[in-house]
Amino acid sequence: MNTSVADNVEYGIPPRAYCSSEYYAEELSNIFSKNWLFAGLMLELEGKKHYGVRLGNTEIILQRDEQGKPRAFLNVCTHRHAKLCDPGAHKGPIRCPYHSWVFDRQGIPSGIPQKKSFPLVMEFPEKFRLTEFSCEVVGQFIFVRISPQGPGLREYLGNQYDFLERASNGMNGVLDEFHADVDANWKVVIENSLEGYHVPAVHTRTFGQVDGMSREEAAPIFFLDDPLHSHLEHAANPDWVSRFARMGKKIGQWPWRFEHYTHHLIFPNLTVTSFMGYSFHVQRFDPISVNRTQVHSRTVGVNFSDGTEAGAKMMERIYMDGHSFTRKVFAEDGGICKKIQDGVEQASRYAILGEGIEDRVRHFQKAYQSMNMGE
Ligand code: FES
Ligand SMILES: [Fe+2]
Repeated sequence: MNTSVADNVEYGIPPRAYCSSEYYAEELSNIFSKNWLFAGLMLELEGKKHYGVRLGNTEIILQRDEQGKPRAFLNVCTHRHAKLCDPGAHKGPIRCPYHSWVFDRQGIPSGIPQKKSFPLVMEFPEKFRLTEFSCEVVGQFIFVRISPQGPGLREYLGNQYDFLERASNGMNGVLDEFHADVDANWKVVIENSLEGYHVPAVHTRTFGQVDGMSREEAAPIFFLDDPLHSHLEHAANPDWVSRFARMGKKIGQWPWRFEHYTHHLIFPNLTVTSFMGYSFHVQRFDPISVNRTQVHSRTVGVNFSDGTEAGAKMMERIYMDGHSFTRKVFAEDGGICKKIQDGVEQASRYAILGEGIEDRVRHFQKAYQSMNMGE
């Protein structure tokens, strides 16, 4: 694709979109209310748990109903509007901290102290159920849409639907997890994750050490056909692949083995990355304010079969290295994102996007603009 000089100068997200509260308010309604948002993983809702999560400016509770289907409710009591739970996982049914109303798996009040005082609620409890949002699932990935109207999840995700389904195959638990705030607008954080151009400058030492990605060999391949989502595949370093092949008997098999690094952005708030499919790194980006973003990061493991104990130990070491690598890279990215935020607040000219190397950033900006932003 040829981008003219004029396009580069005038096209894209204007600097004020990263720091103005008007843009931020518009994003919450045009992007974070209307689209499917990644909310959590099925394996995090196992048992009789409920799970508090903030999506854009909406606080929700996720839980599974009796059929095992995930459901999403507004995190507000129907009695007198107390917030029902804090973010994160909680055991047992939803119980309001104010007057102890209990809500069942479908969000219907099922236990009320002094029930004689609430004859209507006792007679028609389902009329007093928690406000519910659309909630759909692909494999392990639970998505919620705040707005009642819009396309189904499969249509919204396009080809990413199959990727998420396949990636979920054999996922068996969260190996590592952290929440961290980044002092930057959510778009700064996403855009930073969409290019490898900054890697030599920002991650100078970190990337040299671990990582089996090829640098000199083939360039990454970008997949930009979908109007909203994008991904890349970057061939694994052949030495790394052959090392895995040599240890193959010990390590055994895992459900989906590929020989590249992959990074997917599922617009607007999810990235899924994996190296060779032996684990998946799932990150949710949540805007907290115009210049602050919370990131919830998990590394999810998969089932291995036919391996030996020595192989399992080897994988454990690879995972441990991966966890510390992820944290280091995250801290380095957080530091540079803050500098970008400081800069963009002073900027009036549009950014310059490189051809090829920054195509996924441009693609994200187009997706953003397709949400009728700044009109
Ligand atoms: S506000 Fe929830 S029980 Fe009263
Ligand atoms: Fe980075």
